[in-house]
Amino acid sequence: MERRRELFGGRSAAIFALAGSAIGLGNIWRFPYMVGQTGGAAFIIIYLVCCLLLSLPIFLAEAIIGHRTQAGTFGAMEQLAPGTKWKWLGLLTVVSPLIILSYYSVVGGWSIGYLWQSLTSGFHASELGSVSSAFGNFIASPGRALFCHTLFLSGCAAIVSAGVKSGIERFNKFSMPLLFVLIVVIMVYSLMLPGSSAGVEYLVKPDFSKITPSGVAAAMGQSFFSLSLGVGTILTYSSYIHSKENILVMGLGTVGFDLLFALIAGFAIMPAVFAAGIEPGAGPGLIFETLPYIFAHMGASAPWLSAVVAVLFFVTIVFAAFTSAISMFEVGVAYLVEQRGLTRHRATLLIFLGTWILGALCSLSFGPLSDVKLFGLSIFSFCDMLTSNFLMTFGGLLFVLFVGWKMDRKVVRDEFTCGGTARFNGVVFDAFWFLLRYIAPPAIVIIFLTNFFV
Ligand code: TRP
Repeated sequence: MERRRELFGGRSAAIFALAGSAIGLGNIWRFPYMVGQTGGAAFIIIYLVCCLLLSLPIFLAEAIIGHRTQAGTFGAMEQLAPGTKWKWLGLLTVVSPLIILSYYSVVGGWSIGYLWQSLTSGFHASELGSVSSAFGNFIASPGRALFCHTLFLSGCAAIVSAGVKSGIERFNKFSMPLLFVLIVVIMVYSLMLPGSSAGVEYLVKPDFSKITPSGVAAAMGQSFFSLSLGVGTILTYSSYIHSKENILVMGLGTVGFDLLFALIAGFAIMPAVFAAGIEPGAGPGLIFETLPYIFAHMGASAPWLSAVVAVLFFVTIVFAAFTSAISMFEVGVAYLVEQRGLTRHRATLLIFLGTWILGALCSLSFGPLSDVKLFGLSIFSFCDMLTSNFLMTFGGLLFVLFVGWKMDRKVVRDEFTCGGTARFNGVVFDAFWFLLRYIAPPAIVIIFLTNFFV
């Protein structure tokens, strides 16, 4: 079915969109925590190497498929390997981002709820325990949590239904610079707090003794997660990039922005955590429990300033979550529009309904549905575990095997080097080809195994 596809307006629009997908909660809480736990500056160096030697080649594999075919995940597989079992990979990567979106929207909803609170009553608790119980009550209350989930998902639907250019591109072009400005402002505030230097030390002090094989595996897993690999979002966005653009430049730009944001976020959060005398811990708890407590705590000396920073912080979280969520939403919409012939509006509505229902079940699993268990896990945790531990790594592995071992080397090379016109050509492609075929597959298997055993 021949359809005229919309494309991103240019190089910066494409990089903003890809970076928007990559930059999310993973950069704000997961990365800083891992840095501190796994050796500070030493971990950052290892992380950088993992990004360049492992995640960039995987990113490029996905991008090559999308850019080459100018089609969504399912259509791309049909084009490159018609009538084969590879179509299941196309289908898998339509479904997995939608499962992620369902529970991601629940967390996005919590951020909206907290943004609202920071704008209205603010945070006043005097003890960390009472902030935690406020968080527990909020996520368990079906009315408020469901309302926020609905609001978040409706926002995504509104952006996606407006189209690739006037919806997704426009939103990212506005949000990405905003996100960087906000996180820098928060960093400056955080670094000026008395006692913040312990947080800086936590991030930069190299401790090579903490670098263990499991630390290296953790760096690989984090770089994979942070670049949104394995679920077809990079593939789908790349299919909207003009054919004359160089995908290596796109990949390097995305890795660069993603890393930069993670580092700034680290220096925005850890100094504040240490200034308040709290031990850092991973997980949503850091954002929804520790930080509101800090905002309440710091309020004592300059209440208006900490109230403003609290608002800025939750605006950052909400926008970071939106830019990632719309990339997942778009994968499903692209499938319904291109393969099923639906209009964009109808496709958006259908994806909205499906993910709203699954998301509502995830949300209710903190309250009325807390007794429903799948393999011993709540619905929310089950969706998280299924996607993070299985579908993402499985999808990533199959994409890599497809490009490295199934696609014709000449075609891949042609795509990689922009038809041979790219300045770097030969050696860089050979390095990529080697990493893709021999390094990425076993590394993904290691990431998969460490999800279970470490
Ligand atoms: N990269 C996102 C982050 O750092 C999270 C993420 C993982 C994601 N896989 C994804 C986002 C797939 C969009 C699509 O928070």
